[in-house]
Amino acid sequence: MTTRVGPSHSQDGSGAREASPIAVQVRGLVKSFGSGDTTVTVLKGIDLDVYFGELLLLVGESGGGKTTLLSAIAGILDIDAGDLDVLGASLTKMSPGTRTRFRGQTMGFIYQQFNLLPALTAAENVAIPLLIQGTGKKEAISRGRLMLERVGLGDRTEFLPRNLSGGQQQRVAIARALVNEPQLLVCDEPTAALDGPNGQKIMELIRDVGRAPDRCVIVVTHDSRVFQFGDRMAELTDGRIVGIHPIQREATA
Ligand SMILES: Nc1ncnc2c1ncn2[C@@H]1O[C@H](COP(=O)(O)OP(=O)(O)OP(=O)(O)O)[C@@H](O)[C@H]1O
Ligand SMILES: [Mg+2]
Repeated sequence: MTTRVGPSHSQDGSGAREASPIAVQVRGLVKSFGSGDTTVTVLKGIDLDVYFGELLLLVGESGGGKTTLLSAIAGILDIDAGDLDVLGASLTKMSPGTRTRFRGQTMGFIYQQFNLLPALTAAENVAIPLLIQGTGKKEAISRGRLMLERVGLGDRTEFLPRNLSGGQQQRVAIARALVNEPQLLVCDEPTAALDGPNGQKIMELIRDVGRAPDRCVIVVTHDSRVFQFGDRMAELTDGRIVGIHPIQREATA
């Protein structure tokens, strides 16, 4: 694992920095869709480091490739060129089966489309990552219910997704991503369907669960209310990361 100087999380305004190891290292990532004359190169050589202990925001225009980049980092999407090191392992060198297992054990993904299974209750949907890892059904569903309480859905645990509002479905998807306390949490527009208070509560939860010293979070967002939760903001434009800026906060006493 590489160690470099990462951002400080003291947020004390002193500008102090501390050494943090790199959790996600992206080098020269290229990804195209289509073939022949219709090929579109969406990612044109992405270089990005995300440090343990930080919450990195990823912004950029619609259609610019943010979801594509997140999917590549989560090992859901094959890439055309480049290297991806995630949590000390090379995703690019893993077999598809190993990658799937690795993802299940270490990552949580909040999809832009919620991807809930329609025939399962909210609690069963949240329990899926635990069941995949071999947790017994009773315990998995009970932990699913507890997680739903934390996202404010304790009274909706036995509802099917179609009987939940869009914002409630988004919170079920968030609970599912958080339930196995992943080391790497990848969130695609996690507050898009939420009102102000719920968006605030969910971001606090994402920050608390995801931004421990041995974990990290990447959040794609258009929502300026989310910016205050980030440590740094990376901007994706024309297939490249064009800038990474620390997020300034008020000094705390
Ligand atoms: N499976 C696919 N096949 C073909 N083209 C695709 C595929 N997935 C994404 N694309 C194209 O890649 C480009 C980037 O898409 P992506 O979903 O990554 O953008 P985005 O930055 O997440 O946008 P938004 O902010 O609207 O969610 C788009 O032009 C899209 O049409
Ligand atoms: Mg997207």
